[in-house]
Amino acid sequence: MLTNFERLNVDKKRLVDYQHVISAMAGNYQFERNRANSDFVKLLDEQILTFFEAQKITKPLINRRNGIIKHLRKILTNKFHNSKLSSFGSFESGLSLSNGDIDLCLEFDGEPPKKVLKKIARMLNEDGMKDVKLITNAKVPIVKFIDTQSMIPVDISVNNNLSVYNTELLKRYCNIDRRVKPFILAVKYWARQRGICDPTSGTFSSYAWTLIAINALQTISEPVLPNLCLKNGSNLVTIGGNQYDVSMANDDIDFKSKNSKSVGELIYEFFTTLATKWPWDKSVISAGTGKLVSRKEKGWEHKKPYISDAIQDQKLVRLGKHSLPVEDPFDEIHDLSIVLDAQGVYEIRDEVLRIYSMLNDSNDWANLCQIKYPELDFGAPQLDLFADLRGKQESEIKDDLKTLYRDLAIIERSVSVRESERNEAIRMSKALRRNAELAREQSTLSAELRPRRSKINEVQSKRDSSNNNYIPVHFIEDELLKVYLSLTKESGTGVELSFDKEKALFSWFFELQSMHEHAKLTRKYHREFLRLVNQQEQSIEHIKDIREEIISVSSFGNFTDFDDLAKRLLIELNPLKKERRKLRREVGRLEAWLRKQSSQDSNRPKFKRKHSPKNKGSRDIKQVKNKVVSGDSFSLQDLDLLLKNGGLNSVNQQTNSNQKSTRKAKKNKPTLQPHRGKRGKSSKNI
Ligand code: CTP
Ligand code: MG
Repeated sequence: MLTNFERLNVDKKRLVDYQHVISAMAGNYQFERNRANSDFVKLLDEQILTFFEAQKITKPLINRRNGIIKHLRKILTNKFHNSKLSSFGSFESGLSLSNGDIDLCLEFDGEPPKKVLKKIARMLNEDGMKDVKLITNAKVPIVKFIDTQSMIPVDISVNNNLSVYNTELLKRYCNIDRRVKPFILAVKYWARQRGICDPTSGTFSSYAWTLIAINALQTISEPVLPNLCLKNGSNLVTIGGNQYDVSMANDDIDFKSKNSKSVGELIYEFFTTLATKWPWDKSVISAGTGKLVSRKEKGWEHKKPYISDAIQDQKLVRLGKHSLPVEDPFDEIHDLSIVLDAQGVYEIRDEVLRIYSMLNDSNDWANLCQIKYPELDFGAPQLDLFADLRGKQESEIKDDLKTLYRDLAIIERSVSVRESERNEAIRMSKALRRNAELAREQSTLSAELRPRRSKINEVQSKRDSSNNNYIPVHFIEDELLKVYLSLTKESGTGVELSFDKEKALFSWFFELQSMHEHAKLTRKYHREFLRLVNQQEQSIEHIKDIREEIISVSSFGNFTDFDDLAKRLLIELNPLKKERRKLRREVGRLEAWLRKQSSQDSNRPKFKRKHSPKNKGSRDIKQVKNKVVSGDSFSLQDLDLLLKNGGLNSVNQQTNSNQKSTRKAKKNKPTLQPHRGKRGKSSKNI
């Protein structure tokens, strides 16, 4: 059966790159006839098993990968405190090809994942990693890069914990039947070699191909794999606020396949089914249920724009959802075909038709998987760090090392000059920035003095005009009480107040009442007056302090000039530091090789040297180290002495300890930064 998009009347000019699709459209494929003979399939099986053996992960590769992970764990957990770096993907599931990548997940809650990835990308660039790329528009954003020494590709994601569970699922599937691993690796290898395993260029991910392969083994007439996803809620995990059911059966479940086909036969059947019964027409590949689920049942009908429209119309860059749906086992709403584009789908179809026709022409496994885009191949990982040194003379390597020391000394000097210039620029910027702040503060304070003075005068005149003979309020209140009591108290003797006396007391009472009002007002103005005078005094005091604090560096210019200078120096420093790291790494490599050689030599019998002068060595080594730091030329004897005394590392230790003392000195160095002395204290009292 031809798939829908092959049946449509697509302009052939748009399909020139897909010759097998064109051929199928022209009716040149006889899908009904199975032409493979059993001898060929037997041979294919042998070839795939040989290929599988060659993909076995060797001890040196494991060591190298672990070395990279250890290095990354060190730098990442150092930068992101309380973070954890774990490995997942094919390296953990056992489905890695010999040139597979390393997938790492950083668990860190401190900042949003995209921000963390941005920082990681910057760090990796500084660390000298190759081709560092930040991919933030994917479902799981990642940083991709290549380890410069081994050329092993690495992906780092953040808080991508669901992958740890689906990796475990893949691992368990592999353990069910010994044919699963070679089968999946063969599918992945074919997809990789033929350029259809790269989500960044519109084709399926390696993970998607793995799920397609697993689902094929679950859905053939005698299944090789059962379904391990239980979906019974026995293991629910919350990741990024979403809950996932990651319950899965153990790989020791009671399952024995009745299928006795060889890996070769299974592969032949897989590609034949893919070519002739293109599963995506009506179904969703669902390794999480062990079935092909109907698109209708899943609600995953292909949305517009369709593949055929998109391939004809160059403006339609994106495909509608669910073009070739592959369900993620634990995240059932995620369709892994979201990454596909029209060219990608046609390329996949073209490759499926290609391998189908080649299988029926009894082609070799090597031919079937011939690399399509050699320029995109990373090649095998470089595990022998000394490969280029093995054929070289020791003297030649030592000469190289001397040149490297010299280059390194030059770079060290350039770095240190720029670093100290930059530190000075930062100090100046800080000082000038503080000056500007103080000047602003001073002008604000000064601007307040004049209006406050008028206010003081105003309040003072109001206070004085309301009652010149200021009588305290409490005195009037006491007097008022006394008069009030005299007027209202009943006489114990029966003798009443005389009318005149009563009149006089009343008039005194009213006068006191009026005085009381005035006194209250006067008290209010008086308090306001005191507050303002106090404020005025403090402001004047502060202005004096500020004048003392402002440093006379204003003539140097504006703080933004120094900020710009510091920025420019940083831009110059970055490539220098990168170069320095590269040189240091190369020095370390050559030194390690020479050490290795000399330790081999030292196993040979040696003659004892007579009369070696005491302490001469320790005196000489200091001189040699100084020569390295200064970049002076030095002899082969100097080099030998240095190598025997820890190589460049020992020089770095020496400079580090010097740096420590410089740091101490820096602490004691008088700073341009103004400090809060008296002023800090007085401001508290405001
Ligand atoms: N993964 C995922 N969702 C995706 C892509 C990948 O959950 N859309 C997870 C899977 O756990 C997968 C891991 O990320 O195992 C690594 O993905 P990838 O590198 O594509 O697959 P590998 O299985 O590692 O294959 P390869 O050896 O080619 O790297
Ligand atoms: Mg991987």
